[in-house]
Amino acid sequence: MSLFSRTLRSPVARTATRTALPAFRQQAARRGYATEAPKAGNNSLLYGLIAAGLVGGGAYYALNQGPTDPTKVKDAASTSQVDYQAVYNAVADVLDSEDYDDGSYGPVLVRLAWHASGTYDKNTGNGGSNGATMRFAPEANHGANAGLDKARNLLEPIKQKFPQITYSDLWTLAGVCAIQEMGGPIVPWRAGRKDGNVENCTPDGRLPDGDKGGDHLRHIFYRQGFNDQEIVALSGAHALGRCHTDRSGFDGPWTFSPTTLTNDYFKLLLDEKWQRRNWKGPPQLEDKKTKSLMMLLTDYALVTDKGFRPYTETYAKDESKFFEDFSAVFKKLLENGVPVAQFSEVVPLKKVEDQTK
Ligand code: HEM
Repeated sequence: MSLFSRTLRSPVARTATRTALPAFRQQAARRGYATEAPKAGNNSLLYGLIAAGLVGGGAYYALNQGPTDPTKVKDAASTSQVDYQAVYNAVADVLDSEDYDDGSYGPVLVRLAWHASGTYDKNTGNGGSNGATMRFAPEANHGANAGLDKARNLLEPIKQKFPQITYSDLWTLAGVCAIQEMGGPIVPWRAGRKDGNVENCTPDGRLPDGDKGGDHLRHIFYRQGFNDQEIVALSGAHALGRCHTDRSGFDGPWTFSPTTLTNDYFKLLLDEKWQRRNWKGPPQLEDKKTKSLMMLLTDYALVTDKGFRPYTETYAKDESKFFEDFSAVFKKLLENGVPVAQFSEVVPLKKVEDQTK
């Protein structure tokens, strides 16, 4: 079947029982993302009892200030206290939404996990997924992160339901869940990231710009410790999702199946003729045949650059090789900068469809 005879594929079917999602979503939209909000309901009684038992007003003050002060975020207690498969299932349960984009929040969750992790700098050791510093205004407001509030807000009710998980573990786990549930490979995931505070925010400019070329890609990704093969494999995530004019300024999807991970991104890059789109927006390419797909200039560098092209050809020919390499490099991305001692063993996270077998 030609790539062009496909219609937009619907998200991978799942068998999980649906919970009361709409109520969760409304809550997320109202709440915002950055702070550890005080728990509602019965917990107020608990707080009251603990406060009454504490000696001195200072302790009472500290207890009540903690949750509302975003710079005083506490680490989750222990990775053994969290049922990560239950968290995974809760994320899987909120992925599909007819009202959102192409019917799935999966792509924007993958982008959240990547932007939370892709700030890593191997020379200083700072940045990366440890910290989840995109909760704080300086980093949330970086131009590259526009629109990621949607992903953070979607996950907030899950954080409230599983308060022992850190935001940094939750965001990376959600990225893995999205990849696996959208037909991608199993990605080995480990728990143990800690949440940082506002001082740990990384400077702007660590994530790539879509209007540049191969040198820029190498500058950004070598800083994170990736090589050319890994840059190409990671870029294959652009089989998913789309660009939004109100976020990045760019417009459109890369493939006809933006809610399923495939190697179509590489096939389309090589097989189609790409031309500059004539429009008022930033420079981007469109496919000559249908003008309905897009490529960033950085995407196209994977075809024109001699160092990148062989890997693009390999992945276009062999989807299982792409999946194998993508799984390894996505794991590396999500773990960059996290002290190894913090990590648990790999936590088996089963696809929803495999849990019923
Ligand atoms: C190679 C350099 C990269 C550049 C220049 C780049 C640039 C962009 C841009 C401009 C968007 C559109 C954002 C919007 O308007 O909503 C986007 C979306 C996306 N990116 Fe990348 N990206 C790069 C690498 C990656 C990597 C390494 C991953 C993951 C491994 C990734 C995953 C995604 C996904 C899934 C989307 C779709 C999000 C959605 O549909 O909301 N990107 N990227």
